[in-house]
Parts: sequence; structure tokens; C-alpha cells
Amino acid sequence: MTDRPKILVTQRVPDMAYPLLEALGDVEANMEEGGIWSYEELLRRGPGHDYIYCLLTDTIDERFLEACAAAQPRTKMIANMAVGFNNVDVAASTRLGIAISNTPGVLSDTTADLAFALLMATARRIPEAERYLRAGKYTGWGPLLFCGAEVHHATLGLVGAGRIGKIMAQRASGFEMKILYYDVYRMSPAEEAAYHATYLPLDELLQQADFVSVHTPYMPATHHLISERELSLMKPSAILINTARGPIIEEKALVKALQSGKIAGAGLDVFENEPAVEPELLSMENVVLLPHIASASMKTRSLMATMASDNLVAFHKGQQPPNILNPEVLAK
Ligand code: DGY
Repeated sequence: MTDRPKILVTQRVPDMAYPLLEALGDVEANMEEGGIWSYEELLRRGPGHDYIYCLLTDTIDERFLEACAAAQPRTKMIANMAVGFNNVDVAASTRLGIAISNTPGVLSDTTADLAFALLMATARRIPEAERYLRAGKYTGWGPLLFCGAEVHHATLGLVGAGRIGKIMAQRASGFEMKILYYDVYRMSPAEEAAYHATYLPLDELLQQADFVSVHTPYMPATHHLISERELSLMKPSAILINTARGPIIEEKALVKALQSGKIAGAGLDVFENEPAVEPELLSMENVVLLPHIASASMKTRSLMATMASDNLVAFHKGQQPPNILNPEVLAK
């Protein structure tokens, strides 16, 4: 490695990341606002950098990693500015000796805030009511005008009770909701008591919950975890919330469930083929759609940006990056 490593930043990120990276090496950065490189562009630009600072919109697959491992300088580490790392083939990275890091923890509260906001917005039909008012249709208070679902004292089913799911449980406690959870990892009795959460197998949770909120990571085991069969188990009055990853829910099955009244509504921050959205969803009034903004507060995004940089800095200093996903590469 030369004294000044070559660093590629694939998308415009919060400002505080740049001085940290510039202190480390020579930075080439995509500074175009909202400019996401295509896979071909990424493949053309990525190889030949010691370090790559990427986003969840970058497909870091085996082909890309092999090109990075074969180029000079060889890529040693890729820092993903996201907690979710389903965009990265970690197994291939490990095989090729490329370290990978993510940004866990710092976005959990902010993501849970948005999940709860989405739940509230969908239940109380807030975007729909606002569209109505802005369209000049509001002629006066009406006893039946935009009656929605009650949130307080309703039953929330958490599909996934890791960091974000647990915080969602805390938010729900303030609304005196009954909290059910399903996760492959069962909480200890003390944790269940602390979060007022009751474990149920997934099918039973789906049958009992008024709101189902998805908080699992996306991986082969959670692909289409919520599909036609699972949706058919839910109450016709139930609302489904997803702030995790789109492909955990089979989007076409969700469209059918909403169209046929199998469930009452959905609040979605993520989509199966993001940024594409199933076209039918766009015209449904009982659906609230957001452009993957669960962690989007400037403070949280700044913390994520700094954390991703800190991981690269630690690696460069010969230390173990605090959020490394494949520490076994360090031993190689
Ligand atoms: C993540 O970090 O994985 C979120 O989806 C975006 O902040």
C-alpha cells in the first residue's frame, strides 16, 4: 500500500465524512446530489481503490468484489453506510480477503420513530386526509370524516425484535399497546418483561395483531417471509408496516391482499424492487408510501457517515474496525 490510499465514495454523503476520509487518503467522490451510479458505472470506477465507501444502493456482488480484488491497488475494505448489508456479498468478500463494515445502532431510534409515524399515519389516514384538504374538498367537520383505526390499546405484532424492534416496543408502550413479537432469537424473560413483549410463533402473531411491523434483516431466510399465506392469516382490519427491507414482503401478494380486503392497509418505507413500486400501490388510498427515509434525520445520517469513515480509519491504522462484519479477514 502507498502512504496515501485511494478512497472511493460512491454517493454524496453528509459533509463530516469527507475531512475524515481526506485525512486518510486521496478521495474520489461522487458529489452529484442524489446521483446513484449504475452497476456498470460502479464496476468501471470501483476497482483500483484501496477503500470503498458505499451505500445500500450499491450492488457489491461477487463480480464487483473479484474485480476489486484483482485490480491495483487491491481493495482492502468496503464500508457500507447502512446497517443493512444485503447489498453486499459478505461471503465473497471474506473469501477474497476484503473487509466489510456497516453502521449499526446509531439509526435504531430514528428508524423506530419513522416506523411508528408510518403506523400512525396509516391508521389515522393522515396523508389521505391531507390530500383531501389540499384538494379543496373540506367543507366542514363530519362525524364520519376520515375515521381510521385506533392505535392506543391496540395489539402490535413485531416481526423481528432486534435493536429497532425493541425500540418500536418502547414507542408502543407509550400508547399502552399490547406487544407481541416473533423472532428467531427469543428474548430472556427479563427482557420480555422490560419490553412488555410476549413471544408468539409468526402465524399466531399474524392472527392476533392489529398492526404488524417488520423489523428483521433481509437475508435468504427472510425473503418473502410475509407472502400470500401469511397475509391471509392477518385480520381484515390489520395494517402492515415495513421499514426493514422490501423483499421481506412479497409485494404482488400484498397488492392482492389490499385489493381483496384481506388486510386493511399498509405503510411502506421500503419496496421489493426499490426504487420501483408496484403500480397498483400508488393509487391505493389505504397505503402510505415513503421513499426509504426511516433513518433520515440529519443527525442520524451524520452519525452513520462518521461511523462508516471511522471503520475505514481504524482498519488503516491496523486496528479492528468497530463494526466489521467479517473479522476473519483480519487474521489472513
Ligand atoms: C439501513 O441503514 O440499512 C437503512 O435501511 C437506511 O438507513
